[in-house]
Amino acid sequence: MPVIAIIGAQWGDEGKGKIVDMLAQKARVVVRFSGGDNAGHTVINPGGEFRLHLVPSGIFYPNVDCIIGNGVVINPAVLIGEVDQLRQRGVDTSRLFISDRAHLIMPYHILFDGLEETLRGGKALGTTRRGIGPAFADKVARLGIRTGDLLDKDGFRERLQLILDCKNPILTKVYGVAPQSLEEVYRQYCQYGDFLAPHICDTTSMLTEALDQGKLVLLEGAQGALLDPDFGTYPYTTSSSPLAAGGCVGSGLSPTRIDRIIGVFKAYCTRVGGGPMPTELTDEMGSLIREKAHEYGTTTGRPRRCGWFDAVAARFSTRINGFTGAALTRLDVFDTFPRLKICVAYRLEGRTIDYFPSSVVALEKCQPVYEELPGWQTPISHIRQYDQLPAAARRYVARLQELAGCPVDLISVGAQREQTIVLSDIL
Ligand code: GDP
Ligand code: IMO
Ligand code: MG
Repeated sequence: MPVIAIIGAQWGDEGKGKIVDMLAQKARVVVRFSGGDNAGHTVINPGGEFRLHLVPSGIFYPNVDCIIGNGVVINPAVLIGEVDQLRQRGVDTSRLFISDRAHLIMPYHILFDGLEETLRGGKALGTTRRGIGPAFADKVARLGIRTGDLLDKDGFRERLQLILDCKNPILTKVYGVAPQSLEEVYRQYCQYGDFLAPHICDTTSMLTEALDQGKLVLLEGAQGALLDPDFGTYPYTTSSSPLAAGGCVGSGLSPTRIDRIIGVFKAYCTRVGGGPMPTELTDEMGSLIREKAHEYGTTTGRPRRCGWFDAVAARFSTRINGFTGAALTRLDVFDTFPRLKICVAYRLEGRTIDYFPSSVVALEKCQPVYEELPGWQTPISHIRQYDQLPAAARRYVARLQELAGCPVDLISVGAQREQTIVLSDIL
């Protein structure tokens, strides 16, 4: 049985939650490997509608183990809230396992996220203000606290003291805000630790064991490739790698064990927060897509910026992830559109280019070169077979596939689990 990575191919919110929930019916393990509660994954299944921030989207299947990997930063309050809500709605959360190496988001991370955003003023990144950047910065600076640390209360207290000795002078002297209280944070996090302790373990050995037993494992990406700190629109990125390669580091899985990498693409583009997006539509067409598709952030409720499918960015994403296939979501959003556009190249300073520039200054100047295709102007959400799709929809999919450079394995025509067209048997 293979390992399949499900990766956001654009700027996040491509529908990864829906695709993972659908594919997890045959899986035995689902692993979140990056990000934190900046992610918002919507799952609509027979149990209802769920918005998951930290819990993997396989949680709805009683035989699936769900792992929050070492590459995730965890706000324990958010995780406990999510687990509580799931339990109240009848979802069994006893198979949730949390890596003892995963770092914790501390109250000062959230504080710093907000303070730094305010300091950036007009150049704010538009983060989710969940403390993600500061938590990953501390991890790399070796000033982090990990879930495993909560299991040894005396050791935790000592470490927290050391770290607050570094953080409090910055809070008080640089930002002029109140220091964090050792006692309060310690007490609060000990309580979180007590709640989470039964779930915290060495998840890498679990994962290896599952693979050795031939179980199907899904790696559930968060965010999207164009938010990657190395390959995305830096500095308008997130702070951990949403790429397929990040799936190895963030879970403790060898790269040789990944069999398939599915890039999840929306039939158009969206972005939340700041940073360049060459195909953004600031006119009524952008508003039309947003309203038709209810493009509002799952985590922050912010309106998402909408635009046509960017095949230049898609090709880049395919290349840096090595997608073996694509899941194309939200095709139904275009059901009423008479004409559709696809960005096939950029115009930059008098030249036509077909690559995704590394510099945001260049990207801001890129003007999309569009190709137009006819729409299908008929509902498709009920369709389950590729050959039943209207010819214009098949043409649109075929063109995206050709331009993005990877075969389309799945087409999603609605938010529900079963509203999916399977083109190739990927499981
Ligand atoms: P994620 O972060 O990648 O999991 O995506 P989000 O959950 O943030 O946003 C995707 C949104 O699209 C959610 O509201 C889903 O319910 C919805 N969705 C997913 N696939 C489809 C689809 O094929 N059609 C429609 N209309 N909505 C979809
Ligand atoms: P899912 O998993 C869309 C964006 C934020 C901001 C930038 C940095 O649901 O696809 P951060 O809080 O990470 O420091 O913010 O990244 N961002 C997302 N956008 N979907 C997400 O997750 C995102 N996670 C972070 O809006 O622009
Ligand atoms: Mg989302």
